[in-house]
Amino acid sequence: MKIAVIGQGYVGLTISAFAGEHFEVVGFDNNYKIVDRLNSGMSHIEGVESAVIRKFIKRGSYKATSLGRDIENVDLVVIAVPTPLTRDRKPDLTYVESACKTIGENISRPVLVINESTSFPGTLRNFIKPAIEKYSKVQIEHLYAISPERVDPGRGDFNQKNTPRLFAGLTPEASKMTRDFYAKFCDKLVEVSSPEVAEAAKLFENTFRQVNIALVNEFAQITHSLGISVYETLNAAATKPYGFMKFNPSAGVGGHCIPVDPTYLAAIAEEHGAPATFIRRANEVNLQMSEYIVKRVAEDNGGSLQGKSVLVVGVAYKPNVADVRETAAELVIGHLRSQGAVVSWHDDVVGNWKGESSAPLQGADIAVVVTKHDGVDEKKILSSAPYVFDTTGKVKGAKGL
Ligand SMILES: NC(=O)c1ccc[n+]([C@@H]2O[C@H](COP(=O)([O-])OP(=O)(O)OC[C@H]3O[C@@H](n4cnc5c(N)ncnc54)[C@H](O)[C@@H]3O)[C@@H](O)[C@H]2O)c1
Repeated sequence: MKIAVIGQGYVGLTISAFAGEHFEVVGFDNNYKIVDRLNSGMSHIEGVESAVIRKFIKRGSYKATSLGRDIENVDLVVIAVPTPLTRDRKPDLTYVESACKTIGENISRPVLVINESTSFPGTLRNFIKPAIEKYSKVQIEHLYAISPERVDPGRGDFNQKNTPRLFAGLTPEASKMTRDFYAKFCDKLVEVSSPEVAEAAKLFENTFRQVNIALVNEFAQITHSLGISVYETLNAAATKPYGFMKFNPSAGVGGHCIPVDPTYLAAIAEEHGAPATFIRRANEVNLQMSEYIVKRVAEDNGGSLQGKSVLVVGVAYKPNVADVRETAAELVIGHLRSQGAVVSWHDDVVGNWKGESSAPLQGADIAVVVTKHDGVDEKKILSSAPYVFDTTGKVKGAKGL
């Protein structure tokens, strides 16, 4: 079987790497640089080894492309393109629409189309299927299914193989083919009764995290005002063997999922006249954490950051990845600069970001740790400035939440 994966980013390349062991994979991406890199055997995604891409290329089971005609004779298509928010924080399905256009214009016999991009319930049925039909030159009855992606890039313990995968087809035939496809490389498949249930479950998983992160971020502010340690209190609560799940406070949430997906759920809820108050409030609390942290840092440093050199340590949105999408570091840096601080940042995993390069981990008046990669030495962080504020709870001896 030959498959096409539309989008060769975190999700698409990861799925290509697993599927490539069993199928011939065409990795379609409209970013030429990514395509060229992949065809030269270099992976740009953590967790996907370049050696795997090279192995597939050598045996003829993988090819990256930006040409629509390269997908015309595939049997199955996976959609793995971004689903961000618009400037006014509404679901932005333009990438999904463009993927549907590629499929519609280039595939003229019935195939199975599986959506892995995260979106609100009804996207497969009411958006993807009609969009592909709109762009198709001839009338074709494709099969449609959803299998929301749960991959956590950079994570060692859970991957495509051992993370249970939800799925549902628009028809029983689509469900069966979807099961057969993923069964090749996933240990556990969980079929639900409709695509809408799978779509909603994915959004709720990330909303659960968003709301609980906001709750613990608010709790950190409460414990600080009471003069007690948030970490000790959380560890104490976590000794309860049931009914409690520990979340850690932080500078906010980042990445393509937690700051974005809940807003997809809120949008569809509000469209249907249902409340989404927790989601909206959680978003506010998480966004405000950066301001709260900068306020704490200023208070500890004589009330003003004017002219002080501040080194932000770790700008990736989470440890051990180079991903800076929606990173809380951006907000922290913005607040520091608006207070007159002279800000640089250190993150050798990211290297370059927004036209700036990673600065040495030394010589600042103040260091604020936003993300702590495993490879960054705690002692070096502590000696990088006379005052270190740690938002991660990982740098012992620093000031912190
Ligand atoms: N990154 C994660 O951890 C994660 C986890 C679960 C689900 N998801 C979801 O998976 C989807 C993809 O996310 P991602 O992290 O892989 O994004 P990404 O930005 O890493 O990759 C998307 C890729 O799609 C390409 N692309 C964009 N529009 C295209 C088009 N019309 N045709 C072909 N290629 C196109 C981009 O060039 C990019 O390489 C999103 O809906 C996201 O919410 C992401």
